[in-house]
Amino acid sequence: MSSYAEELRATAQAMMAPGKGILAMDESHSTCNQRFEKLGIPTTEERRRAYRELILTTPKLSDFISGAILYDETIRQSSQAGLPFTQMMQAAGLIIGIKVDTGAKDLAACAGEKVTEGLDGLRERIAEYYQMGARFAKWRAVITIGSQMPSLTCLEANAHALARYAALCQEGGLVPIVEPEVLIDGNHSIQRCDEVTDQTLQVVFSQLRLQKVALDQMVLKPSMVISGQDCAQPASVEQVAEFTVNCLRRNVPATVPGIAFLSGGQSNLQASQHLNLINAQYADRLPWRVTFSYARAIQQTALEHWAGNDAQIPAAQQLLYHRAKLNGAASLGQYSAEMEQQQPVLA
Ligand code: G3H
Repeated sequence: MSSYAEELRATAQAMMAPGKGILAMDESHSTCNQRFEKLGIPTTEERRRAYRELILTTPKLSDFISGAILYDETIRQSSQAGLPFTQMMQAAGLIIGIKVDTGAKDLAACAGEKVTEGLDGLRERIAEYYQMGARFAKWRAVITIGSQMPSLTCLEANAHALARYAALCQEGGLVPIVEPEVLIDGNHSIQRCDEVTDQTLQVVFSQLRLQKVALDQMVLKPSMVISGQDCAQPASVEQVAEFTVNCLRRNVPATVPGIAFLSGGQSNLQASQHLNLINAQYADRLPWRVTFSYARAIQQTALEHWAGNDAQIPAAQQLLYHRAKLNGAASLGQYSAEMEQQQPVLA
């Protein structure tokens, strides 16, 4: 048992505090730069820093956000006034999270499939991040749906890495967010996504047990069970909620304290509607807290409004706060379509 067991349980509970979710703002340089390029924002370290400062200085963000996941560059950065982001987060009541994988790379002998890397030196990096104030971590595996995909090779390789990562995190005092993302790319049906998510979660939990991961000291970050983005007959909100709940109930042990979904390319509206219905209709039958750990579905509107223009920071922060608020409500099953109309008044 990790000497941090009590602390890890408490951190996991705090991450899953009622009415709150986790903000993913851990885009790698390349992902962040791609999003900046689309909006004509210079892809410099200073602009990435300015954008992350915009997010972290959003007033009252902790009303709906328990913690935020940072990237290695970000955890070392400071505000323009020179205050380290880590100190700003602690003062704002945001738990510090850190992405520790080094990205999804091509998986040898499995064309079109990826395996996430980052285990080398991970024990030492975890120790450094803990010293810097981090209390949880994230590792994302990606599973692609295709005619011959996913292969068992891909599922096992990714699950093994996720489990090794999770065990190291617990040893070093960080709550591992275990993120096996079944990608929304493709024209597959919701039934096919259900099959693949089922298989993925089975393999992931089998590896977590094998690597002796304490299931009561982690958070699962899955994708929802949803039809592919090019599917001719997109699944309804009701279907997504029902398939997702059933798949999770089949595979996720009740000792896991919480589930925090990724948005995975869903629209803002879909991400809020799906999370809301899952909680509104099924929460009393679920053993875990179910909330969000969105990046795009919280940030994108604010990023587009800011678009690198610092005069727009207060308005962009209002947009960010608004989406955090709506998803906070959805995590309690209290979101409604009317709330979408209560857009902040922008300067
Ligand atoms: O790893 C992916 C992020 O943590 C979640 O991002 O909500 O944009 O899918 P997303």
